[in-house]
Amino acid sequence: MKLKFHNTYLFYTVTGKGPAIVLLHGFLESASMWKKLVPELSKKHMIIVIDLPGHGKSGVVGEMHTMELMAQAVHAVVKHLDLPTIALMGHSMGGYVALAYTELFPSEVEGLILLNSTPAEDSLERKANRDRALTMLQKTPNVFIRMAITNLFAEEDRTQYASAIEQLKEEALQFPLAGITAAVKGMRDRKDRTSVLRQFSGSKYMICGTKDPIVPLTISEILAKHCHTDLIKIVGGHLLLTENYDETVKKMRFIDFLCI
Ligand code: MLT
Repeated sequence: MKLKFHNTYLFYTVTGKGPAIVLLHGFLESASMWKKLVPELSKKHMIIVIDLPGHGKSGVVGEMHTMELMAQAVHAVVKHLDLPTIALMGHSMGGYVALAYTELFPSEVEGLILLNSTPAEDSLERKANRDRALTMLQKTPNVFIRMAITNLFAEEDRTQYASAIEQLKEEALQFPLAGITAAVKGMRDRKDRTSVLRQFSGSKYMICGTKDPIVPLTISEILAKHCHTDLIKIVGGHLLLTENYDETVKKMRFIDFLCI
């Protein structure tokens, strides 16, 4: 399905009936990252999966896709579906968007799952890396996309996941360069939302990979404690649904608002 948003369209799917859960993919990913999980979750939930602006089939809205703008895009779909409240599960960048959504529409969010994600803003070092990424995106975009996807996996696991890495690269290489650039700028300039997570009074969970190279477990442990958020640890890296699907789904059964 598609919905007009600003000057473009957002693509989304709706599967199943029951309490609504919106799934938000990460950077250089799309709705396709959830394809194995949707049949599982949609037995007792309405599952809405959205391609965020500039990713998958959804178009580019502007030069910078702030987390707030992406949250507004998600809200447009939620309002279109006439859903008064939802739960959100966001993978990495999708988690940043979920927190922006929670800040903008606090009374409409009932539950929150940050999967391989963090409420913290970028460190100065990471912001500098984003600037380098923007330069690389201008000069050699395909090299950047390939490198960024490889870097999502721990070095020792790259051979094991070679075909998944190739598949991700093939998909991301189809995304509009302007959309990728807009997301890098949005992530670089996103604000710290530790206080949003801390103050959120619904059920909230961080699901973390023990060797996530992007969101280190040691930092997640500190943040989860500070934000009174349940921390679920899974053996694996930044793409837990690719690297350790069975264990991730098994542990999701402990999440009180997920009926699986
Ligand atoms: C993602 O997987 O969405 C990105 O790695 C997040 C980030 O770069 O901060």
